[in-house]
Amino acid sequence: MTNDSWWSDAVVYQVYLRSFADGDGDGVGDLAGLRARLGHLVDLGVDALWLNPCYVSPQRDHGYDIADYFAIDPTYGTTDDLVDLVAEAHRLGLRVLLDLVPNHCSTEHPWFREALAAPVGSPQRGRFVIRDGRGPDGALPPNNWQSVFGGPAWTRLADGQWYLHSFDASQPDFNWRDASVRAYFEDVLRFWFGLGVDGFRIDVAHGLVVAEHLPDLPTDGAVDRHPMWDQPEVHEIYRTWRRIAQEYRPDPKYFIGELWVDGTERLRPYLAPDELHQAFCFDLLVQPWDADRLAGAVRSGLATADDLGAPAAWTLNNHDVHRVVSRYGQVQDLSAPDPQDLLAAARRTGPVDLAVGAARARAAVMLLLALPGSVYLYQGEELGLPEVLDLPDDVRQDPIWVRSGGRELGRDGCRVPLPWRADAPRLGFSDPTGAAPWLPTPDWFAGYAVDRQARDDGSFLALYRRLVRGRREVFAPGAPLRWVDHPDPDVLAFTRGAGLCLVNVGGDDLPLAPALEQAIVARSGAAGGLVRDSAVWIDTARVPGGLRSVAWDVPSGAGAPARA
Ligand code: NOJ
Repeated sequence: MTNDSWWSDAVVYQVYLRSFADGDGDGVGDLAGLRARLGHLVDLGVDALWLNPCYVSPQRDHGYDIADYFAIDPTYGTTDDLVDLVAEAHRLGLRVLLDLVPNHCSTEHPWFREALAAPVGSPQRGRFVIRDGRGPDGALPPNNWQSVFGGPAWTRLADGQWYLHSFDASQPDFNWRDASVRAYFEDVLRFWFGLGVDGFRIDVAHGLVVAEHLPDLPTDGAVDRHPMWDQPEVHEIYRTWRRIAQEYRPDPKYFIGELWVDGTERLRPYLAPDELHQAFCFDLLVQPWDADRLAGAVRSGLATADDLGAPAAWTLNNHDVHRVVSRYGQVQDLSAPDPQDLLAAARRTGPVDLAVGAARARAAVMLLLALPGSVYLYQGEELGLPEVLDLPDDVRQDPIWVRSGGRELGRDGCRVPLPWRADAPRLGFSDPTGAAPWLPTPDWFAGYAVDRQARDDGSFLALYRRLVRGRREVFAPGAPLRWVDHPDPDVLAFTRGAGLCLVNVGGDDLPLAPALEQAIVARSGAAGGLVRDSAVWIDTARVPGGLRSVAWDVPSGAGAPARA
């Protein structure tokens, strides 16, 4: 498999391993379960898979707290199983990306244990951000930084010093100003690359280095650069990593960053040709179902991609946000998302109209898969799974739930094990004679099971399969997007190659000109026009007389001049 820019228009399927499929009956998904079901990804037509962290971990943050970066957690299998999985995936034409977590490890990582046992000021302590506290007896944390998961970002050690953790207290931050940390991660990269892994998603890629003197965050939050994030020294690290990635010929390795930085200028250095290949475009994910807001996010994502020369990586779902069906099924909040907490917009709760949410989610993925760039899908979205909002409190495991004292539901509801077979015990996720799934699967998940949807031409799964497999037939890879001026302000309309994508984000059903109607190659909603909350793909080569001859069959009946 060679093609050194395979990722630039790929569809990548995110596997949250512990919830994908359980091969050994312990109630937790694993590599054997995934391997047995790689056919699901092949049937979907995706190009690659991204595996959430599956290294040795005490699982306080389900693998984002790593105790051994060089081995697979026994719950998931062995390192040999991973090698076999990669080989099998490659045989099936799928690339494999792992998740790299360089910002922090687990308190059970041997280095952190050594640091605790070592004296103040020792090289072992120097691998972490460990400092004296403030106040006469050092009982106050070194500064006022807050953890992303809530509460202070510092925890005190038995000897009175404090360690930094941007996330949970079980996830101590590495000190990236320490040469041994840098060397360690270079070894980690080479180890997994050497085993055939094609690339990495980099966790909190803007977070590795913190401001040198650990300044307080001004209480009004007014800083040009938050001292915990996006420090200029991080770029040297990525330049080294990219050099390592390029050593693999003829198939260089690939990096995509989880980067929460503000605006194109801040993103620019990360996506320079000698750093990371791509960054997730989260702006679209946090928007409500509103034509202007969605179009705005697409425009800015494309402008950034063009400006930086790095194809956009679109996504609507991942393991950190509420599932899109539930987000779009709520009353849409049109206020601007809080720039300090964008994820709040993607984890809002409220009453959900699932039928509305499902229609919008189907239309939205048609938008996504028509755009230039790559698309990251999250397991279960191809089934139209909603967020499970009513998990019992005592089964919830997310540190966000725990650290917020139950005020925030957190992310368990998008991590519920997948339903494979509607009539099988445990919905086919795991062996019925084994342990119960690690999170309970609600009975109503049966209605979303893969086997049921595979038999139904109108299902989410059938739609996803048609779209993923068919998108390149009309939306030629690399072809630029051209907006089309549609008279209805609630319709997003654009062409790319021979494809025309129309998305009706408004509340009214709209008619379509017969010339368009007969050239439809995919639709998300009911037949006959462009019904509300739906999208269509049209093959313009099949429109008699071409697109310019079409009068848009809406009340104003205008033509179709290009908008930009
Ligand atoms: C971002 C990951 O996506 C999330 O799941 C994790 O909890 C944090 N980083 C901390 O690693």
